[in-house]
Amino acid sequence: MTVASPLPFTDSEIQVLKNRYENAGQGHVFKFFDSISQDEKVELLKQLVEIDVDNLNTIYKKAIEGAEMATKGVDELKPLSPDVFDSVLKHNDEQLKEWEMLGLQQIAHGKVAVILMAGGQGTRLGSSDPKGCYNINLPSGKSLFQLQAERILKAQELAHQHRNEQDPQETIIPWYIMTSGPTNQPTYDFFKKNNFFGLKEENVIFFEQGTLPCLTMDGKIILETKSKVAIAPDGNGGIYKALQEKGIIRSLRERGIEYSHCYCVDNCLARVADPVFIGYCVSKGTDCGVKVVGKMAPEEPVGIVCVRNGKYAVVEYSEITQETANERYPDGSLKYGAANIANHFFSTSFLERVPSFQSELEYHIAKKKIKYTNLETGEQIVPKTNSGMKLECFVFDVFPYAHNMSVLEVKRQDEFSPLKNAPGSGADCPETSRRDIVAQHVRFIENAGGKVVGDTDDYEQLVFEISPAVSYAGEGLKQIVSGKIVKAPATIETLDDLIRATC
Ligand code: UD1
Repeated sequence: MTVASPLPFTDSEIQVLKNRYENAGQGHVFKFFDSISQDEKVELLKQLVEIDVDNLNTIYKKAIEGAEMATKGVDELKPLSPDVFDSVLKHNDEQLKEWEMLGLQQIAHGKVAVILMAGGQGTRLGSSDPKGCYNINLPSGKSLFQLQAERILKAQELAHQHRNEQDPQETIIPWYIMTSGPTNQPTYDFFKKNNFFGLKEENVIFFEQGTLPCLTMDGKIILETKSKVAIAPDGNGGIYKALQEKGIIRSLRERGIEYSHCYCVDNCLARVADPVFIGYCVSKGTDCGVKVVGKMAPEEPVGIVCVRNGKYAVVEYSEITQETANERYPDGSLKYGAANIANHFFSTSFLERVPSFQSELEYHIAKKKIKYTNLETGEQIVPKTNSGMKLECFVFDVFPYAHNMSVLEVKRQDEFSPLKNAPGSGADCPETSRRDIVAQHVRFIENAGGKVVGDTDDYEQLVFEISPAVSYAGEGLKQIVSGKIVKAPATIETLDDLIRATC
């Protein structure tokens, strides 16, 4: 017979906790306390002591006020005027080379890290695995994580040539990966199973973001079961708290990191540790930078970098009015056309400064179908419509606090193809991700003076892929392919593979 362990809380401690929740108007979380087992009581109490219920109520109030302000149009929004941001589309190759060189030097001197935000649950994609594990059906079968790891390896290799004598022997770009409760273990297991894709395990650092309780539309904590509060990751803006609390800022300092490239897991074209972006931001003395691409259509589901109440900000697609999204300049281009591609640059000093304004940061409401326990019957309900909300911070909500913000426009076809939706949905889905990578690799060959010849022009079908190990952004191909034909199908993992495919 197993004997239930005694509660790790005294009766008076439990009473204090109950009072705290009662006073905060959240006493219903104890509704089933007397009827649940001892183990369940422990489970619930452990969750409840961790929640700062008064702060939760404050966050809810703030989030509601913020949402009302957005719908009432109280905020003064202005588009980014084209002269405040730089664009790789407008600058000549010489300028781009200069930025790239500066970026490679920073990497070579061990000053650059990469931070990946991979705590999202990818519900729209319809896969229960972390998004980074997703195989977008490339000829090589590589997952998003593998593509990103290989780009880091290549950036290290390219930068290594810019090393000073006195710099460390190895060129390392540490990769900090933010996971969340649901993605943490499977992400680590995936890396372990794949030997960290050739990176050293000690340079791949996982850290878990925080969670917040889910709330009903009127701000009451949702009980998922009689003994469990429904919780969710606190949004990708949870990164700042996690960086502090998980010792990552300390780790950055210990490693001598001055700049970080921070990006989202779901963009198969993400130029991880992009030397051009890093060099650009460093040359401008930027503390907080972001990449944008031209927005395709008013309804494209992307955030817009703009000026809100006089400060740089991103207004999410769920928070912009249709009328504003539709505004155009006389030449027909969208006024709010600087689409956020979730590629950020932060100086370490900026990241260290975040706690000084953290309490002022916004919370956003994401309405979701959240399982809940009926407080009258105790029955668990799996709703078909939105039953509550998750509260989330967004990574870009720190923009207004930057001392020197920079925005760099890049080419969509080179840098942005997000994976959001399930296969077959026609947009931002596995098929478009695969297509955009294959098309880019065909362009790499064309820009190097060669031509890819295969049995189809349809990039969703064409079997052609160049590993980042061979080329990061199209460099190093000219001497092999210029004036030649490269035959598809070809999955090019090495320069020898490329030579074999070239005639
Ligand atoms: C995000 C941007 C949006 C941009 C778009 C481009 C944010 C808040 N919004 O929107 O402005 O135009 O990408 O594709 O950045 N994540 C976490 N923890 C969480 C939630 C998300 O790490 O709690 C990560 C996800 O794993 C993903 C990234 O943040 O890597 C973006 O999350 P997602 O919810 O997909 O943002 P979008 O709505 O696509």
